Amino acid sequence: MQLPYAESHKIKMVETIKKSTKEERLDWIKEANYNLFNLRSERVFIDLLTDSGTGAMSDKQWAAMMTGDESYAGASSYYNLKNAIKNILGFDYFLPTHQGRAAENVLFSVMVKDGDLVPGNSHFDTTKGHIEFRKATAVDCTCDEAFDTELEYDFKGNIDPVKLETVLAEYPKEKIPMIILTVTCNSSGGQPVSMQNIKEVSALAKKYDIPLIFDSARFAENAYFIKIREEGYADKSVKEIVREMYTYADGMTMSSKKDAIVNMGGFIALKSEELYKQASIYNIMFEGYLTYGGMSGRDMNALAQGLDEGTEFDYLESRIGQVAYLGKQLVEAGVPVLRPFGGHAIFVDAKKFLPNLPKEEYIAQTLAVELYIEGGVRGVEIGTILADRDPNTRENRYPELELLRLAIPRRVYTNNHMDYIAASLINVFERRNEITKGFSIKSEAPILRHFTVELERV
Ligand code: F0G
Repeated sequence: MQLPYAESHKIKMVETIKKSTKEERLDWIKEANYNLFNLRSERVFIDLLTDSGTGAMSDKQWAAMMTGDESYAGASSYYNLKNAIKNILGFDYFLPTHQGRAAENVLFSVMVKDGDLVPGNSHFDTTKGHIEFRKATAVDCTCDEAFDTELEYDFKGNIDPVKLETVLAEYPKEKIPMIILTVTCNSSGGQPVSMQNIKEVSALAKKYDIPLIFDSARFAENAYFIKIREEGYADKSVKEIVREMYTYADGMTMSSKKDAIVNMGGFIALKSEELYKQASIYNIMFEGYLTYGGMSGRDMNALAQGLDEGTEFDYLESRIGQVAYLGKQLVEAGVPVLRPFGGHAIFVDAKKFLPNLPKEEYIAQTLAVELYIEGGVRGVEIGTILADRDPNTRENRYPELELLRLAIPRRVYTNNHMDYIAASLINVFERRNEITKGFSIKSEAPILRHFTVELERV
């Protein structure tokens, strides 16, 4: 018999989580105005709101924290992190920031200006936010395969080179400060970008002389998918693949809270000394001095260690295997989920799950609330509420896909928890025909409404 994968860690410390009753959850979610962000975490049994900053650090990471150097300038922790970034990712220059969006803020302050276009593959919300905040436009060049949720296609994170070249050829170079490649692509369902595609995008970037920046939050999961799915990479280590990926990048922004398995942190890494010098000014203004940015010494030490652990094959195999373990159970029960399964999350197709609910009643949000009531499991809506209103007409923007994202924290839950999540969602699926009413909005903020929106039952 072929031996299955098993977690590449054992458990040294545990944290108690509490079950609750359906009656309690009905009260609590009403009190939270049917917004899962408003729930106290003690009222959640299994929390799949995000995989960001929610991972479990290792004994080596905790040990590294004890030796953190909190000097304002020139801390040894800074040099530890600098070495890890050089060895694992290959960059000579880096700036620490407090998280991913801070890295975007600093780098875009140098590079993006009014009227610019920034092509990429389904830019993440904060990335798009920082582009639009500067009155520039994020142009989505994701491949068409990504929009068919049932299509089994290995690299749905890919940029369509034809769409990209159309933009590059149409506008002057001065209007396109960078191309952003998000690996893996969160907004298209945690889907990877192939090495082949990275090469094609890099060739176009070189042809038009435009910098190529990787949004790298889940770069290690991307490298794992290249290893297991792309021809010619099976015998390469994840670390070798990561190094190859970044030979094609001019720079990267990083939310370390994902694949570097720390609870807080981020950075910018660059090949150009000139760009590093320009970004340094903004880093000092917005984040902190060059050798700590937005991070304490102990956090930089834990991050250096996390970059190493997060790019180990055995860890990635069990991490991504666990996500697929949940996905398979849902598929077997007929629950409509996005295929192939993402690296960090399972995305449930809420329109197919609740076909009788009108889009005006917030389909994915309704499903998220039902899952919470059923089992105390908290996912997140990626649908109409997140899509906000059109800034000009103030009408709701109805996205093509209404998704419920179940993001799996790293090294936190066991497969028994996955069984519990699957059972909860399958129970909702079995009573889906009884769910005929959704929600209406009681109050909302003018932008980023999903965090604070208040809802009531229709
Ligand atoms: N880029 C991607 C692809 C992300 O998924 C995120 C965050 C960021 C940038 C911003 O990083 O949160 O450290 O400021 N994604 C989280 C999520 C919030 O739940 O998917 P940050």
